[in-house]
Amino acid sequence: MKSKEGFLTAPEKTLRSGGINDMLDARVILAPMAGVSDAPFRIMCRRNGCGFAFTEMIDVNGIFYKNVKTLKYLDTLPEDRPLGVQLVGADEKRMLEGAMLCRDKGYTVIDINAGCPARKVVKGGKGAALLKDPAKLGRIIGLISSKLDVDVTVKIRAGWDAESANYLEVAKIAESEGAKAICVHPRTREEMYRGREISHHPTREIKAAVNIPVFASGNVFCAKGAEDILRSTGCDGIFVARGALGRPWIFRAIGASLRGEASPGEPCLDAIKTAMADHFSLSEKWYGSFLTVKRMYKHVTWYLKRYKNLNAVMESYRAVKDASSFEGFLRAIELDGRKMVIAEKVRT
Ligand SMILES: Cc1cc2nc3c(=O)[nH]c(=O)nc-3n(C[C@H](O)[C@H](O)[C@H](O)COP(=O)(O)O)c2cc1C
Repeated sequence: MKSKEGFLTAPEKTLRSGGINDMLDARVILAPMAGVSDAPFRIMCRRNGCGFAFTEMIDVNGIFYKNVKTLKYLDTLPEDRPLGVQLVGADEKRMLEGAMLCRDKGYTVIDINAGCPARKVVKGGKGAALLKDPAKLGRIIGLISSKLDVDVTVKIRAGWDAESANYLEVAKIAESEGAKAICVHPRTREEMYRGREISHHPTREIKAAVNIPVFASGNVFCAKGAEDILRSTGCDGIFVARGALGRPWIFRAIGASLRGEASPGEPCLDAIKTAMADHFSLSEKWYGSFLTVKRMYKHVTWYLKRYKNLNAVMESYRAVKDASSFEGFLRAIELDGRKMVIAEKVRT
C-alpha cells in the first residue's frame, strides 16, 4: 500500500487488505447494485465463489447528514471481505469527506460512481452526469487519491449519449488523476439498461489506451459470456451484476471455467431452496424479520424465475411473516416438470 506524506491517518483498519490487488486477484467481482448488493447478498455470493464485492452506491450527502440508513450501507461482517465501497456524489468536498469516513472504517478501495443513469441521481449532477463534466470527475478522483491512502477506482459508462461518447477522454483523465482502475459499462446513459446485446468495444479501446487495470461490466450472464468478454477486450476482470440475481453460484461457474475445470452445473430446486433459506437467515440477522420479508420478495422471485407458475407461488409468499413461515413457504413448493406447484399439505 502506497504511503504519501500528508496522508490523513486511518484510526481503524478493519477492512485493510490489498486494495486494487484484491480486485485483480479475484478477477470476477460482484458489481455495486443499489437495493441489492447488501451484506447478506454479498455473503451469498462469496459463499458461492465471489472473490471481491462492492457495496451498493452510497450517497455522500447521506454520509454528510449522518443519515442512519446511509451509514448502515457502510457496515459489513468479517465474512464479507475483501470489500470495496462505491460513493456517489457531485460536490468535491463532500466526496472527500465521504471517502475519509470510508477510509476510517478501513475501506481500501473507493469507487466513484460515474455511471448511474437514474433521473434522480443525474439531476443532482451525480452518477452518469459526471461524464458531461470530465474535468470535475478528474478533480474528485485527484482530490481523494492525493489526500487519502486508498485506491480510487471509477465506474463509467461509454458516455452520456451516442453523440457525446467520451469514454477515452474520461478514462485518460481518470488515469492521470490517480485512479487505480476503471470499470466500463459500455452503454451510454441514454441507453439505460436497454438491449440484451451490447458491444464491449469501448472497454477494449480503453484497455489499449491506459496503463491501469480495466474491468468490464455488462451482460455477464454465464461462464462462456464472461470468458468471451475477457478474451475480446483483454481486460483485467469483469463485474457481474444482473447475472447474479437469484444465481449467486454464477461466480462458481465462471471461476471453474476460468480455471479450465468442469462446469458445476445448475443447482436443482432443493439446492435453490437451501440457498433461499440461507439468504433469508443472513438477511434476518442483518435487518430483522419485518424488513427481511419485504426485501426477500424480489430475491425469491429471482431465485425461482427459471420455473413456470411463478405468479401463483409468489401469491403464497404473502403468508410469510418470519423464518418459520418462510420455511413453510419453501416446503410447499414442488415441481411438476418445469412448473412449480404448491403442495396443499404444507400450505402456510
Ligand atoms: C438493480 C441494479 C442496481 C444497480 N446499482 C448500481 C450502483 O449502485 N452503482 C453502479 O455503479 N452501478 C449500478 N448498477 C449497474 C451495474 O453495476 C452494472 O454495471 C450493469 O447492471 C451492467 O451489468 P449487467 O449487465 O451484468 O447487469 C445497477 C444495476 C442494477 C441491475
